Amino acid sequence: MHTFYLFSIIAYMLTKKQVQVLDFIKSYRIRHDYAPSLEEIKKKFKLASVSTSHYYIRKLQDAGFLNKEHNQPRGVSTVGAKQTIEIPILGAIAAGQPIEAIEIPDETITITKDEIGQQGKHYALRVQGSSMIDEGIFDGDIVVIRKQEVAENGQTVVAVIDDNEATLKKLYREKGRFRLQPANPTLFPIYRDEVEVRGVVVKIIRNLESQLDQGQSRKEKYIRKIDYSWDYRGEKTKSYTHGIHTYPAMFIPQVGRRLLETYSKEGDTICDIFCGSGTALVESRLLGRNAYGIDLNPLAIFLAHAKTTPISPQKLTKEYIVLLDRIEKIKDNQIKRPEFNNIDFWFKNKVIVKLAKLKKAIKEIKDKSIQNFLMVAFSETVRYSSNCKNGEFKLVRIKGEKLEKHDPDIVGIFRKHAEKNIKGMTEFYKDTKKDSWIKIIYGDSSKDNGIKEKSIDCIITSPPYGDSRTTVAYGQFSRLSAQWIDIFDNPNEASGVDNELLGGRATKNLIHLLPSDYLKESLEKITKQDEARARDVLSFYIGLNDCLKQAYKILKSKKYFCLVIGNRLVKQVRIPTDFIIAELAEKIGFTCEDIIVRNIPGKRMPIKNSPTNIVGALEETMNKESIVVLRKN
Ligand SMILES: C[S@@+](CC[C@H](N)C(=O)[O-])C[C@H]1O[C@@H](n2cnc3c(N)ncnc32)[C@H](O)[C@@H]1O
Repeated sequence: MHTFYLFSIIAYMLTKKQVQVLDFIKSYRIRHDYAPSLEEIKKKFKLASVSTSHYYIRKLQDAGFLNKEHNQPRGVSTVGAKQTIEIPILGAIAAGQPIEAIEIPDETITITKDEIGQQGKHYALRVQGSSMIDEGIFDGDIVVIRKQEVAENGQTVVAVIDDNEATLKKLYREKGRFRLQPANPTLFPIYRDEVEVRGVVVKIIRNLESQLDQGQSRKEKYIRKIDYSWDYRGEKTKSYTHGIHTYPAMFIPQVGRRLLETYSKEGDTICDIFCGSGTALVESRLLGRNAYGIDLNPLAIFLAHAKTTPISPQKLTKEYIVLLDRIEKIKDNQIKRPEFNNIDFWFKNKVIVKLAKLKKAIKEIKDKSIQNFLMVAFSETVRYSSNCKNGEFKLVRIKGEKLEKHDPDIVGIFRKHAEKNIKGMTEFYKDTKKDSWIKIIYGDSSKDNGIKEKSIDCIITSPPYGDSRTTVAYGQFSRLSAQWIDIFDNPNEASGVDNELLGGRATKNLIHLLPSDYLKESLEKITKQDEARARDVLSFYIGLNDCLKQAYKILKSKKYFCLVIGNRLVKQVRIPTDFIIAELAEKIGFTCEDIIVRNIPGKRMPIKNSPTNIVGALEETMNKESIVVLRKN
């Protein structure tokens, strides 16, 4: 009954057009002291008919932004007293098969407070899949979730199962186990002994934006082409060393591989200017390309080295077995407790002692490559044994009883990861082209990193989607590991990484010379709502433009530069980063040859495009990212 009540309150997020109509009504009222007529609204927005004006008014009334003053001429007034709240959209949630749990504050939605009640903390997720259709939850909708760790039988919850898989289902407790029930008669329930509840659905926001945007497309400078063959839905992404250590917003290896195969040949020298954990570099080695990787996050560099350095599985296994023996023998008085800020907040004392013993045992391995390789499993152990919630890229501490009970088996976690990693290395060692090389540079891609001019045959990369603070916090994700594995001389420096990455520091003002009309238009819209946010955004694009210039310098003439990028939403403004990159790059001396849009099936980045001008677009509500293919003139 309770659940039924929740789902009967379907509300709507304001679309771009609705916001414009609302702004028009507000400013009209200020000027005239009464509201515009339906005819005036029709004229202002070049609408097809007065009934369309009426449609907008009704939507704004339903959403609580306009008062209902029926039967009066010009009878609408804006709602001033209602308090609104901005809720972060933390990612995508599968209403079908579970997907990797993520929490990336990509965008926010604004709703009135009385729509969700005054109690509790809330977040929102974008729904993927169709398993909850009988509850009125459709692919592309947004669900607002009230954070809570318990739920009543039959409530629709965000449930995390099997370590880190999140799904949206109705939860039932029965016969000592949990049933996660889809609301779609064609699908089977999932049964588990353990389910972590991350909150309960309190509101569904129907995705009407794309429907309303239809027919309003304008002539764009570039064409996006949807190509489903780039989706790689359901394919294995953890083969070779790709499964070693998680990292935020990783490449799908198949995408990296296809770009390499299409735009380069064996023996070529590749560069990934934002190499992260090194997915494109691993693929380069497997395909017999030499490769440079650049990244400004020290943990990324560490991981990329470990994933691309072939090590004989026999040697590795031998050292690993000896290591297991050594761990047991290390005494409490032989270890050095690391010192960094808040260590006791993030780790229990007995965990610190056990981690320190494990670290000492690994550090005693003489072969540096093997030591580093096993240190990656140690880094994973740090993450999973900390007081930090597992399924999140941000640092969020476990609370209450859960924290009290938290008693990780350090050696067990280490063994699980080390053995999985050794298996991945065995595959990689067998298939890697031994005569190819990889050079990994810790550096800022917006600057010269010493790579010779016109020496690179192909650049393949996926840049950050925006600044680290408001999109993916690469530095925050890496912090605890980086502090434990001695990446920094002073471990407290690990907190500063995000400020150094693209867009890490807002510009002082909004004056700039970037030659992009798309950027200009987006900045104007964001500035109207939040100037500080616009300065954050500008700083990101200034940095990105410098990276494009450096890329131009190192690339040979007529060669390709491929960027995989999502178009993020800031303050309800969809920023067409793919088009902005194309515009900026063309001014530098590239030609934009293609913008391919791929769906991200059940993947980690929550991107919903507003895909005007898409060739072959069948569906507008799925998460997408663009592959921008540039060619140096
Ligand atoms: C989308 S991730 C790349 C993920 C990578 N493709 C993978 O599979 O792991 C973007 C990367 O850009 C890096 N980055 C951000 N700003 C940078 C800059 N100015 N110079 C170099 N790297 C930067 C971040 O540290 C992050 O690792």
